[in-house]
Amino acid sequence: MTDTLPTPALDLPPGSPMWNPDFLFGAGTSAYQVEGAVSEDGRTPCIWDTFAGRPGAIRDGASAAIACDHYRRWQDDIDLLATLGFDAYRLSFAWSRLLREDGSVNPAGVAFYDRILDRLLAHGIKPFVTLYHWDLPQHLQDRGGWLNRDTAHRLADFADLASRHLGDRVHAWTTLNEPWCSAWLGHGTGLHAPGLAGEAYAVEAMHHLLLGHGLALPALRANGARQVGIVTNVTAISADTQRPADLQAVDLARACYNHWVLDPLFKGHYPEALASLWPAARPPIREGDMALIAAPMDYIGINYYFRANVRSDGEHGFADKGLDRVERTVMGWEVYPAGLRDVLIGFAGRYPNLPPVHITENGMSSDDHVIDGRVDDEQRVRYLQRHLDALGQAIRAGVDVRGYFAWSLMDNFEWTEGYAQRFGLVHVDYDTQARVPKDSALALQALLRRRRELSGARTGASRAARAPA
Ligand code: FCB
Repeated sequence: MTDTLPTPALDLPPGSPMWNPDFLFGAGTSAYQVEGAVSEDGRTPCIWDTFAGRPGAIRDGASAAIACDHYRRWQDDIDLLATLGFDAYRLSFAWSRLLREDGSVNPAGVAFYDRILDRLLAHGIKPFVTLYHWDLPQHLQDRGGWLNRDTAHRLADFADLASRHLGDRVHAWTTLNEPWCSAWLGHGTGLHAPGLAGEAYAVEAMHHLLLGHGLALPALRANGARQVGIVTNVTAISADTQRPADLQAVDLARACYNHWVLDPLFKGHYPEALASLWPAARPPIREGDMALIAAPMDYIGINYYFRANVRSDGEHGFADKGLDRVERTVMGWEVYPAGLRDVLIGFAGRYPNLPPVHITENGMSSDDHVIDGRVDDEQRVRYLQRHLDALGQAIRAGVDVRGYFAWSLMDNFEWTEGYAQRFGLVHVDYDTQARVPKDSALALQALLRRRRELSGARTGASRAARAPA
């Protein structure tokens, strides 16, 4: 019977710094993907509400109007997070819930996040708050969105008001989640909201996103924020063949996927390869912009999921060829744990000023079902184990990593994939909103419990050593 099978376990090597309770284990969500209640208590539409209304934009025509109903179930969700033993929670504030169209704060929005932060702190869980996880208020999109430089200033205003009202309880702030996706998927390919397609749009949007980050940093710091950073998605890259043209394609892919965001932040300029990739597109840089963008941060959040295996496209670009006979998730993404180690070691070498790293997302979607009250997601347990191993290798190689956040706390609205992809540690039944921790959640819970016991034993031992005979 399924319920007699043992829950698969997770482990860390003896002596790993991840056993230290200062290393944070967390789980993440984002407002649009879990909250629902998209038109309640003064929340105004965001670009994803509009985009989801386009026929064919979202798989099965799904909508995030209810999602995980977290707007009502936040208390139980946070209690579950605590039961699972997490040290930290990564969430985002919905811009269009927190601020009104005239730029003033919406008291109902403040009250919602106020209660969430209080409950997290009551459980001793550190809140990591993202300001912008892709849900731009529609009224800003109506004025050009990220193609309008003014939107960068509006992000700074949002940072100021959010931190003024709620900052006393936020452990760490993230200005932007994955600007690459906002810029490229939202403005380059049109696969994401707002659904624009053009290289020049993407390059312009990226600059304004990064400028918004640069303007938000001092706004947050002025209100007392001590841990401020950005979260970027990165891709591990391999060459399909050793032909010079394919090796050249690897450089282009690195520039596009990784350095487009990281070079401005840590070198103060865009990678030169972008000009050969997109000859007609130029970022609209004004004097002083790059210095703002490259201002020091307290941490960098890295989201890692997969690798691209690239070759030349025969023109001036690259193509992702993929690989046969590799393990994949339901999303189709290759499972490639070594890539996490390799990108981290690569970034630490390329950017001597790289701040401490948090892995802010890592996880996978699978076809999960509740059977006899249990969700056997053995592939996810193996996935987590192998990525924690790879992370341990990066740390041993000298990369300063301070935390690991699984994506996601629970199954949720996966953007264009709607509810077809289950990334959660906790299973959500969208008909009843019942939550069931999957085996992976239980394995993490057991690991975190052992870690607490060990550190308790260590503290006890050192106290005993100091105790008078
Ligand atoms: C990332 C997003 C996150 C989630 C995961 C699967 O790109 O930041 O919201 O969709 O992918």
